[in-house]
Amino acid sequence: MQYRKLGNTELELSVITFGAWAAGGWMWGGNENNDAIEAIRSAYDMGVTSIDTAPVYGQGASEEIVGEAIKSLPRDKVQILTKYGLRWDETKGEFYFHSKDNNGKEIDIYKYAGKESIIYECEQSLKRLGTDYIDLYQIHWHDSTTPIAESMEAVERLIQQGKVRYAGVCNYKAEQVEEAQQSVKLVSDQVPYSMVKRDIETELVPYCLQNDVSILAYSPLQRGLLTGKMKAGQQFAEGDHRKDLYFFTNENIKNTNAFLEKIKPVANEKEATLSQLVLRWTIEQPGITIALAGARNAKQATDNAKAAEISLSKNEIDFITEELNRLSLVKN
Ligand SMILES: NC(=O)c1ccc[n+]([C@@H]2O[C@H](COP(=O)([O-])OP(=O)(O)OC[C@H]3O[C@@H](n4cnc5c(N)ncnc54)[C@H](OP(=O)(O)O)[C@@H]3O)[C@@H](O)[C@H]2O)c1
Repeated sequence: MQYRKLGNTELELSVITFGAWAAGGWMWGGNENNDAIEAIRSAYDMGVTSIDTAPVYGQGASEEIVGEAIKSLPRDKVQILTKYGLRWDETKGEFYFHSKDNNGKEIDIYKYAGKESIIYECEQSLKRLGTDYIDLYQIHWHDSTTPIAESMEAVERLIQQGKVRYAGVCNYKAEQVEEAQQSVKLVSDQVPYSMVKRDIETELVPYCLQNDVSILAYSPLQRGLLTGKMKAGQQFAEGDHRKDLYFFTNENIKNTNAFLEKIKPVANEKEATLSQLVLRWTIEQPGITIALAGARNAKQATDNAKAAEISLSKNEIDFITEELNRLSLVKN
């Protein structure tokens, strides 16, 4: 495994960080707790010491699973990344979307990052995670009803109290990062980035490179599309959000698979899987500090962890990028 520093701090994360959204089941058609725990532990055995979760993932379930999985591990060898600012148990802030929890109960998700709410959420997360500090605490989505300064001041207070080590954000544009920097030292922005979703390359990446802000790439496998396992006519389980995403139309699956076939010889040569090749390419891109790869079980988790063990030459990276530049997905 390789480890990289966040911004100019001492906090090092594994280049493949475990993403625990699907592990919590919600929006992924359910989960199996034991599989999720085993996935995290197997990833740790492969050097994946960093885990990303959030209270909203399974409405507490994902954080509890992470807490259970790391219970027997030395706390100072694990980096816990969690979030705040998406509430399902409050109706304050900005309505985000309607959903159902893991038991089928109707819930409404709000973007809310008021000061008291953050302090409360942090306490809840610490309890669920079974720890007394969070390594990286990130706003999940911008809340337009709360000034950015108010949210960041709350995190600054948590840092002073020792409950949080570093402040990060998710889904922030460069100008929002800049605004937040006035109130707290931000070390990272967690944003969507994959071979087929590269919008951040134009503005956010140059800004982060210039300002020592790390980018944590989320959904680097484009939620399974880039593993090569999806086929036209793909069926998803009830409640799996992927059935409504344009990435998974028959046409986009077919075109993506045709691209993956072209780069497969590079994977074969390295005795690597397509997922490993995709993840390695992702963490080789400028400004990308680590990739947050989701996994539902030990097999996927160890497959992904091994991406850190392969290396790509400049020629190989260029070849993949050139093939990629010929692929365009249709947004519906
Ligand atoms: N901050 C945010 O707003 C935000 C948003 C999204 C994600 N994230 C973070 O980023 C993490 C990763 O993103 P993601 O989970 O959305 O997408 P992802 O990592 O691109 O894809 C994960 C999914 O792909 C499939 N998969 C993963 N590895 C595989 C393998 N080796 N072989 C075959 N299938 C494999 C699994 O689903 P199936 O087996 O069901 O196909 C898995 O749940 C999340 O867990 C979360 O921590 C953050």
